[in-house]
Amino acid sequence: MRAHSPDPQHIGTRDDPHVQARRARHRPLLLHSMALFREIFEIVFAHRDVETVVEVGVESGAVSGMYAELGASTVYCVEPSPTDGLRATLAGNEALQLVTTPSPRAFAELPVADLYVLDGDHNYATVRRELEWILAHAPEATVVCHDLLWPCSRRDLYYQPSTLPPEDRKPASTDGPTVWHDELTPAGFVGMGAFTSSTRAGGDRNGVLTAVEDVLREFGDDPWHLELVPAIFGMGVLVRCASSDCSSLMRDLRPYSGSRLLAAMEDNRIALYTRVLQLQHEAVAHARDADRMADTISAQCREIERLQAGRAHPRIRHERGGRLREETVHLAGALQRAVRGMWRRSSGR
Ligand SMILES: C[S@@+](CC[C@H](N)C(=O)[O-])C[C@H]1O[C@@H](n2cnc3c(N)ncnc32)[C@H](O)[C@@H]1O
Repeated sequence: MRAHSPDPQHIGTRDDPHVQARRARHRPLLLHSMALFREIFEIVFAHRDVETVVEVGVESGAVSGMYAELGASTVYCVEPSPTDGLRATLAGNEALQLVTTPSPRAFAELPVADLYVLDGDHNYATVRRELEWILAHAPEATVVCHDLLWPCSRRDLYYQPSTLPPEDRKPASTDGPTVWHDELTPAGFVGMGAFTSSTRAGGDRNGVLTAVEDVLREFGDDPWHLELVPAIFGMGVLVRCASSDCSSLMRDLRPYSGSRLLAAMEDNRIALYTRVLQLQHEAVAHARDADRMADTISAQCREIERLQAGRAHPRIRHERGGRLREETVHLAGALQRAVRGMWRRSSGR
C-alpha cells in the first residue's frame, strides 16, 4: 500500500514552514462563499450535464466564473443589488449574464436551467417559492441550496430592504443569533444594515431547511433526494430520485455529507466565530466606558485645580476637594480595570 504523501506546496517544508499559516492569514475570518464548495460542484458537473446555470445571490461574483470553468456555457447571475464591482467582474466574462430581477420572479424570465444555485434571500417564503418553481418547471435540474444549517436552518433572515410582503415576514430584529444562547443579541451574527433575523427560531414556516423539507414533502409523489454537506453553513444538493444518475451522484457526495469530521468542524467554527463577535462587542463597550471615565476624570481634575487656585471658600474647598480626590481615585481605578479587561479579552486571555 502506498501512503498519500503530503503536498509541500500545501503544508510547507522544513525550509519554508509557514506556508499553511500564510494561507490561513489571507482567508477571511468568516468563510461563507459557495466558492469553497468547488470540489462538491466538480462532482455535480461530473455526473450531470450542466450547460445553463441560474445562480441566485451573487454578491461579489466570487463564484460565478467557477460554473463556467467547470463547463457551463451560460450563467445567469441573479442579483437585485449589484455593485459596480460585480458589474465589472461579470462584464469580463461573456458566459456570465447579470439579471437584476429578484428571485424567484427572475426564473420565469429565463430559460429553464440545468443547475440552480440558491443563495439569495435566506428565508422560508423565498426558498419555498424558488424550489416550488424549479421542481415544477425544471424537474431534470440539479438544485444546490446554501444555508441549510445554523443560523438559517430554522430561523428566517431577510435582506434589507425586504421585497417580501409583510405576511411572509416574521417579526425581525437587527440583533443576531449566537451559538452561546438561544436569544438574539447585538453581540451576535448581525447584518449591519444588510439583513435582519427573525426574533424567533423554529416552528412552522421558519428557516431555509424547513422550506426545503416542506417542498420535498409536497412533491412526495415524484420524490427528490437531498444530500446535505455539513460545512460552511450547510450546502444541500437536490436531484429527482427518478433521474438515471441520482444514485451515483449521491454515492459520490456521501463521503462529504456523511462526514462527522466536517460536522464537528462546522460546530466549532460557528462557536469560535460567535465568540469573536462577542469579544469584539465587549471590547467596543469597554472602550466607550473608558472614554467616558477619562472625560469625567479630566473634568474633575480641572475642578480640583480651580478649587486649589483659591476661588472658593476654604471650607467648601476642603470638602469638595476631598470628595473629588476620592472620586477621581475611584474612577482612575475603574478606568485601569476597564482597560486591563479590554486588553485581556481582546488578547483572548
Ligand atoms: C450570501 S450572499 C451570496 C454569496 C454568494 N453566493 C457567494 O457564495 O459568494 C446573498 C446575496 O443574495 C442577494 N439577494 C437577496 N435577496 C435576493 C433575491 N430575492 N434574489 C436574488 N438575490 C438576492 C443579496 O443581495 C446578496 O448579495
